[in-house]
Amino acid sequence: MTVIDAGPPGEIRIAPSILAADFGELGRAVKGIDAETDWLHVDVMDGHFVPNVSIGPPVVAALRHYSSRFFDCHLMMSEPGRYLEAFQRAGANGCTVHVEIGGTASLIDDARALGLRIGLAANPDTPFAAVAPFLADIDLLLLMTVFPGFGGQSFIADVMGKVEVARREVTLNELALDIEVDGGIDVTSAPRAVRAGANVLVAGSAIFAQPDPLKAASALRAAAYDGRR
Ligand code: DX5
Ligand code: ZN
Repeated sequence: MTVIDAGPPGEIRIAPSILAADFGELGRAVKGIDAETDWLHVDVMDGHFVPNVSIGPPVVAALRHYSSRFFDCHLMMSEPGRYLEAFQRAGANGCTVHVEIGGTASLIDDARALGLRIGLAANPDTPFAAVAPFLADIDLLLLMTVFPGFGGQSFIADVMGKVEVARREVTLNELALDIEVDGGIDVTSAPRAVRAGANVLVAGSAIFAQPDPLKAASALRAAAYDGRR
């Protein structure tokens, strides 16, 4: 079996979010942006933690036939622990759970036991202090730049302060941690997020809602690198 590696922490990564893709042609959409995809971001919504329902493990399993990229599954769920194994079996490489639901320490243990990379997400109004105790035990910190539930919302620039604090902690403590931003990421907000300290950029509308998604992803990558200069 091929091992799908997340790559070294801290590098710029583009993670297209399939939420904005045409669900009737998901396989084709995912293949079409493969050359500019570092990670594929899969948004899972349970209709409880967020007021929307999206997709689950069967779709992840189906997509595995179309992509050999790292599958970054964002579990917007009240009870992700019940589904971690199903996602892992379906082909998820990393799963991110929200800190707001509690039980973080045991979710981290469960994900690790399954061999998953583990991420912890915080909503825009969740303070950094809520995730701080877990930084040494996770692989990825997802700082939401919109309130989760829907694609196509506007970037909340206020979150950049939290990204700066997180990046400082990572540097200070030499942590092997990726900092991901998700929501309203486009060619304007991407360099701002990178300047603040983010290195994984999730983008749905800015890629899949564009006339040429591959070109849009490439432009996003260029914009992200601008933030590093
Ligand atoms: C929001 C999701 C995001 C969403 C981003 O609940 O977690 O991943 O797809 O979409 P855009 O890039 O359109 O804001
Ligand atoms: Zn997401």
